[in-house]
This record gives sequence, structure tokens and C-alpha cells, in this order.
Amino acid sequence: MKRDFLRLADLGEGGVLAMLDRSAHFARIRGRAEHPKPLAGHAVALLFDKPSTRTRLSLEVATVELGGHPIIVTPDFSQMSRGEPTEDTARVLGRMVSAVAYRTSTAARIEAMARACRAPVLNALTDEAHPMQVLADLLTVRDVRGRLSGLKVAWVGDASNVARSWIEAAGLLGLEIALATPPAFAPPRDEVQLAESRGGRVVITDSAQEAARGADVLLTDVWVSMGQEAEVAARKAALGPYRITRELVALASPEVVVLHCLPAHRGEEISADVIDGPRSFAWDAVEARLHTSKALLEWAAAGPGFGHARPFLTSRDAGAR
Ligand code: CP
Ligand code: NVA
Repeated sequence: MKRDFLRLADLGEGGVLAMLDRSAHFARIRGRAEHPKPLAGHAVALLFDKPSTRTRLSLEVATVELGGHPIIVTPDFSQMSRGEPTEDTARVLGRMVSAVAYRTSTAARIEAMARACRAPVLNALTDEAHPMQVLADLLTVRDVRGRLSGLKVAWVGDASNVARSWIEAAGLLGLEIALATPPAFAPPRDEVQLAESRGGRVVITDSAQEAARGADVLLTDVWVSMGQEAEVAARKAALGPYRITRELVALASPEVVVLHCLPAHRGEEISADVIDGPRSFAWDAVEARLHTSKALLEWAAAGPGFGHARPFLTSRDAGAR
């Protein structure tokens, strides 16, 4: 089985912590001669149906520093904008590149990409999940606080794709997470139940103060995610009370780690004095995106399906397109 990374659970038992260890190693050896180059001779497609700054940069630089060649593909300059099916694009990519990172709208679309593509597919954000971001957040928190276990995590705001991957992480790592969201923008019940069945503790509340009290990690995200532009008015009205301010930070642990996946909207989900203040580690988490992207690409490269081991035209026998 090729190593697709559509969600954190795809890393397998103990896989998240192993990925963090490897990411920390990449952070230590950056720029040194011993830095491995597992992508040497390989091209990686970075396919973006939605805008990106951090994800694109981190994957592009990670690919280069691992010895590979990144190729940015956007709908505007591909046949995707003219209606070529996702599966056909996937087949083309699988014949050309060794791995694909894909940012798109629905989980169904990235799953279709992963099914039809010979090469491993990595989730660079969907409407439902942003597992790459949460790996970087976890690495940052562990670096600042020295551990993850026993920390109280609080989320204030929209139960966005990032929040949902944090809920998944809570389940996989046995963490406690409290989410303060308006009921209309709460996380799906089945995802909460899955995290709890795996050993996480998930508290849903409508009080930002309740969630933030004593928190070791304080997280938020934009009120209006990409693709939700039609809901701006409703979202801003409902999410108004769910913002990280100096007053909210004062309720948390004095050692709280404040994170925002960015881009931030100062004065909306987070105040300028917090995101630009001493407890904000958002910019460290940006750098962590590079180290975790390297660990992820290396992991994908170590599995079957990476590269071009199959001789030309014999793949028909195996039924693979
Ligand atoms: N955090 C994050 O994914 O940022 P971009 O949208 O800029 O990639
Ligand atoms: N929830 C945001 C995250 C951006 C990195 C979005 O999907 O737009």
C-alpha cells in the first residue's frame, strides 16, 4: 500500500510522535552535509485548488532541501480549470511525479485523487482537515513546553478544518481539548466520538472563558475559511464572542502557547496584542511547517508506490492506471 496521508491516523500507531521526532531531527540538521536527500532525482507535484502561502512554501522548500524538484500545479494553468476530471489528473500525475501534495475542497475529492494516483497523496488542506498544520502545531508546543501529555488544549472560534485535525490528534495522542464554539459551528459529533473512543477527552462548550481557563495551549482560526465566503455575515455575527484577546489569555496558564495557523485577522478571531505578543508562537509554527513537511515527504518516499519502479506499459497487468 502506498503511503497516502489524508488524515493523521494514516501515520499508523505511534506515527504522529515518530513524525514529530523526525521533524525535530530535520530542524537540528538543517543546512548540514548529513541532511538526507531521499527525494534526489524525484519530482513532487504541489497541487493547489485554493490559495496558500505557508503550505506551498514549506512543501516547496522541503522538497528542494530533500534533493527533489517541486512542481506547482494550479487549476488556472492546467486542464483542471476546463473540467478535466480529478481522476484523470491523478493518473497523469502518477505517471510523472513521485508524490503529490493536494489542497482542495472536499474530502471526497482528495480521496478520489488518492485512489486514482499511483503516487502517494498528501493532504495539504481540505474543507474537513488540515493534518499538516496540526503536525507543525504539535511540534511547536512540544518544543516550547517540553511535552504534550497532560497539557490542556483549548480551541476558541470556528470548529474549522484545523480544529477538526486537532480533535483527531487529541484522540490519537490521548490529549484533553476543550472547544468553545457557537453551537452552529461546532465540530461533527462522529469526529468527537471517534477521538474519545481512541482515548482523547473532548469538551464542547459555548463559553470561551470556560475553555481558556488554565489552558496550556490556546488555538484559533479565521472565522471565514476558504470556500465559505457566502457565509461571511452569519459567521461574523455568530463568532463575535469567540476571539482570543488579552483578557482571555490572562485566564490561561502563564506559560500558555498561543497558536494560529494564519493568515490572522487582527481584531477578529485574535487581537493584535496577542498574535504579536510574548505568548504567540505562530511564527515558530510556520517554521515548523518546513520541518514537518520534510518528515512527511521522507515517510511517503520510504513506502511502496513512491518513484517509478514499474516498467512502462506492464502496469496494465496489475490493473493499475
Ligand atoms: N497555515 C496554512 O496552511 O497557511 P497557508 O494557507 O498560507 O498555506
Ligand atoms: N481554516 C482555514 C485555514 C487556512 C490555513 C481555511 O481553510 O481557510
